[in-house]
Amino acid sequence: MTHISAHPTPLISRKASALKGRIKVPGDKSMSHRSLMFGAIATGQTRISGLLEAEDVVNTAKAMAALGAKTTKLPSGEWLVDGVGIGGLKSPAGDLDFGNSGTGVRLAMGLMASTKLSARCVGDASLSGRPMGRVTNPLSQFGTTFEASEGNKLPLIIHGAETARPITYTLPMASAQVKSAVLLAGINTAGVTTVIEPVPTRDHTEKMLKGFGARLSVEVKDGARHISIEGKHELTAQNLAVPGDPSSAAFPMVAALIVPGSDIIIENIMLNPTRTGLITTLIEMGGHITIENRRDAGGEEVGDLHVKHSQLRGIRVPPERAPSMIDEYPILSVAAAFAEGTTRMEGLEELRVKESDRLAAVEAGLQANGVSTNSGRDWLEVTGGGAPGGGKVVTHMDHRIAMSFLVMGLASRIHTSIDDSAFIATSFPGFTDLLNGLGARIAPTP
Ligand code: S3P
Repeated sequence: MTHISAHPTPLISRKASALKGRIKVPGDKSMSHRSLMFGAIATGQTRISGLLEAEDVVNTAKAMAALGAKTTKLPSGEWLVDGVGIGGLKSPAGDLDFGNSGTGVRLAMGLMASTKLSARCVGDASLSGRPMGRVTNPLSQFGTTFEASEGNKLPLIIHGAETARPITYTLPMASAQVKSAVLLAGINTAGVTTVIEPVPTRDHTEKMLKGFGARLSVEVKDGARHISIEGKHELTAQNLAVPGDPSSAAFPMVAALIVPGSDIIIENIMLNPTRTGLITTLIEMGGHITIENRRDAGGEEVGDLHVKHSQLRGIRVPPERAPSMIDEYPILSVAAAFAEGTTRMEGLEELRVKESDRLAAVEAGLQANGVSTNSGRDWLEVTGGGAPGGGKVVTHMDHRIAMSFLVMGLASRIHTSIDDSAFIATSFPGFTDLLNGLGARIAPTP
């Protein structure tokens, strides 16, 4: 299996002077996938503005169309989804290709699990190495059957249950993807499906499904969230506006913190508290980040992030914060390299099963650039004091590893380079131009 794109595009990032300007980042990835999927099973036409048009989300749009829910992009940039109603999805004519996206395939499996259809799900080499048992196990309890590849991996064929049985399921790991897959299977299942979530994870599925009119309730018992959905009630199409992705804003945010003299504003960022762990952490480290113009936008709080260069201090990042910043540890590790003292991050076991083993990939990238690290199964320590740079980072088909180390190059003593930038397009099209517009110096490797 190859772990690089067919036409790898290496990039080099050189020491920059002050980053300045006002930018917007693309729409939130989690909300974009969900807008398309929930629109696909609602009745009527869902209209979406601000949809993230990155490869991961475009693959979800194609999958919904292949399952019978037409998706259209209007000249205005808005997207329409013609919903088929619960139980209305049909077997696709060909494979459903989810590319690099765990969220795409795992949520789509939930969406299909309680409807009588069959579909073969495939993905790229990274996605084909990731565990799918975490969704096939609970979905099997509904009566769904699977023909998976060795080790419960992709490619796999899902056969949706004709008459699904509702389940009560306690999440064995902190995963919004698994929670969402079970809740989505519950929508076309008669009776009440309950997910028990001991550690809270991002709650977009719950909030957005309620917005679509689902009969969903959340109760907290003994510290655990019990999320119940009553199946077989139609959802109603919605008009949705997707705000900027805090996980994408993380890159220019850390770039401004570590490049001396920087002062930038990142507009319209979603501030759902299940997603803001990185902002909390960077402020604790001494980062000058202020949230301006806080407002409500379609059920989510949003605001503009004003970020200035800061001398950061190393801290201990507690394990209970991990779900609220799970995609942000690579870029936090870069920030930590420029802090005074050591930063210790705990509760990182889920990083091992992302687009790459992110704990290993981050550590290797830091060490290649002269930064000292220490790690265990689920923790990482980064010694601050700055990064000499000069190393070439292996990105392992992982967009967040690629973007993190391009940011690092901007403040390293010499440059940092990455082996392949192609996967940045899975979540953040326009990343390089946007950062260069602020004053970054990211360019093709000579
Ligand atoms: C996501 C959940 C997270 C996150 C991913 C998006 C989602 O995965 O890493 O990028 O949209 O539900 P897990 O829930 O598996 O941790």
